[in-house]
Amino acid sequence: MTKHSNKKSRFVILISGRGSNMQKIVETCKNENWSADISAVISNNPRASGLDWAKDNNINSISLDSSSYSDRDKFDSDLSSEIDKYSPDYILLAGFMRILGHSFVKKYYGKLINIHPSLLPAFPGLNTHSNAIASGVRIHGCTVHFVSPELDSGPIIAQGYTNVFTHDTVKTLAERVLMVEHKVLPSVAHWLTLGEVTLNNDNKAIILNDHNGLFYL
Ligand code: GRF
Repeated sequence: MTKHSNKKSRFVILISGRGSNMQKIVETCKNENWSADISAVISNNPRASGLDWAKDNNINSISLDSSSYSDRDKFDSDLSSEIDKYSPDYILLAGFMRILGHSFVKKYYGKLINIHPSLLPAFPGLNTHSNAIASGVRIHGCTVHFVSPELDSGPIIAQGYTNVFTHDTVKTLAERVLMVEHKVLPSVAHWLTLGEVTLNNDNKAIILNDHNGLFYL
């Protein structure tokens, strides 16, 4: 359903590190004048350099140190309390390196979007670039998907791909995949602000208005 109201979409972005995907979303939102507010950036890693960038850009920046929690559910519930302060329409996991529990995911199902650095369902989990090289695939990339309780397996919204060259190292491949990530995630975020991404009854992500959900670097 295309959005008809003039209400701005509110995003909370979760990060764990440098936050280059978050930066791209913030910059594209500003440059393209989206009807959206980046309400807050939350990191589970207090040393994440992305937090400094967000602060410097006058975005509410919150650090919630996951390493200081022995109880996963308690972290999830504190994170949820922080998120709920901003009543976001969407929560974007942009390089957020922490697995969220089932009740957290269920609470926000349909609002929680992740970017994963592989062409899912290939290479879920960690070390996606080295796994891609080791497996000999000639294509690799990233996936933006709704988060479901099973890791890296929620409904796929968009994907971006690049070649895997014989001379690629983990570093060179990761750099190219990141460049395509920087196209895919801001595009999906923009479609969300327009109300043009939705879930159907079969739990498949639907992109409206003929937006192309396939990106290439
Ligand atoms: C990205 O490749 C993301 O897909 C992965 O971690 C990286 C984070 O990069 N999960 P950044 O923090 O957005 O720069």
